[in-house]
Amino acid sequence: MLSLFTMALLVSPLISSTLANYTLSQDYTGRAFYDGFDFFTDADPTNGHVKYLDKENANNSGIAGLMSSSTINNAVYLGMDAVNEAPEGRRSIRVQSQKAFNRGLFIADIAHMPGGICSTWPAFWLVGPNWPASGEIDILEGVNEQTGNSFTLHTGPGVVVSNNASFTGQLVTPNCDVNAPGQDKNAGCTISTNDTATYGKGFNENGGGVYATEWTSSAINIWFFPRNAIPADIVQGNPRPCESWGPPRAVFSGDFKVDDHFKDLNIVFDTTFCGDWAGKVWAQSSCASQAPTCEEFVTKNKSAFREAYWAVNSVKVFEKMGDAPKLRTRSGGAVLPPLP
Ligand SMILES: *[C@@H]1O[C@H](CO)[C@@H](O)[C@H](O)[C@H]1NC(C)=O
Ligand SMILES: *[C@@H]1O[C@H](CO)[C@@H](O)[C@H](O)[C@H]1NC(C)=O
Ligand SMILES: *[C@@H]1O[C@H](CO)[C@@H](O)[C@H](O)[C@H]1NC(C)=O
Ligand SMILES: *[C@@H]1O[C@H](CO)[C@@H](O)[C@H](O)[C@H]1NC(C)=O
Ligand SMILES: *[C@@H]1O[C@H](CO)[C@@H](O)[C@H](O)[C@H]1NC(C)=O
Repeated sequence: MLSLFTMALLVSPLISSTLANYTLSQDYTGRAFYDGFDFFTDADPTNGHVKYLDKENANNSGIAGLMSSSTINNAVYLGMDAVNEAPEGRRSIRVQSQKAFNRGLFIADIAHMPGGICSTWPAFWLVGPNWPASGEIDILEGVNEQTGNSFTLHTGPGVVVSNNASFTGQLVTPNCDVNAPGQDKNAGCTISTNDTATYGKGFNENGGGVYATEWTSSAINIWFFPRNAIPADIVQGNPRPCESWGPPRAVFSGDFKVDDHFKDLNIVFDTTFCGDWAGKVWAQSSCASQAPTCEEFVTKNKSAFREAYWAVNSVKVFEKMGDAPKLRTRSGGAVLPPLP
């Protein structure tokens, strides 16, 4: 039994954090995005047929920069080489925020994304050190000619998502553990949607929209709002998820402690090709008729990648004053006072 004193420690920060409003803590808009994100240039950890460029090369070759057109102004442009053949892997971009986060509300306004294109595997996600111990939250992700988004978490053991929360997506696999028995290796827990406005070609035809991810000590909730239905409080910069946003597309909660499995997460955007997901399912996909292998498609079909770019209007991170402090647990299970 927990003592009353311990109960108070557990409960009071949660109550006060529920009442407080979110305040802006990080604004990655336009130039500030490039000041706050580093370019990743190692080999792709997911084994894609890709070559990630550094900042200077990406800029010099017109693959990264700021976009301005009649419809998109000052957006961060993250593209790829759609001109040359790519026997060594197609030149593309992976960027990661310098700052790591613990809880918060992540609001990304995205005007255009790669996707719905054979061999592509674009993702906007959060990931921590010592994978999978610190967790991974895949907010916007898919492969090949996918038409609806997949929301996925990857963790160590002990994280199973309950299907009884209110969300509009469909729970596909419940166990977030990358080694979960009965699930494909590294499948993680996935909630997916068939709404074509959420991904790829349908997303782009609509001018994209807003993905909002609320990460608290009790749940990870993800909403998507198409361009014509972004709540006014988001537009005004004073987001209040509880008020008018309706049920999330995905809620990841259950009989586990979020704080024990998700910490120090960086924000990542990337586009890779083939590899551990897009390549693995190539032969069974509608793309298989276009080329004998996924890699061959990437190497030769350069013009297929003209629309394979991200245009990110902004990424804003909001935090709550007095958000629940982390609770440390002794090996015996006793609850210690919050960290200073
Ligand atoms: C939160 O924001 C709303 C709307 O701006 C305001 O009415 C309310 O007083 C704020 N609450 C707190 C605790 O600051
Ligand atoms: C790309 O290079 C140009 C010319 O040096 C510079 O003006 C611009 O700010 C650079 N863009 C980025 C995103 O760094
Ligand atoms: C939802 O499921 C969780 C665990 O799977 C359980 O602890 C909780 O009581 C359930 N809530 C409702 C309202 O059924
Ligand atoms: C998507 O549609 C298919 C076919 O109608 C259906 O079987 C599947 O359950 C749907 N998936 C989701 C995530 O709604
Ligand atoms: C890819 O290349 C093959 C062979 O040239 C061609 O048949 C196919 O239409 C191309 N597909 C796309 C999407 O460019």
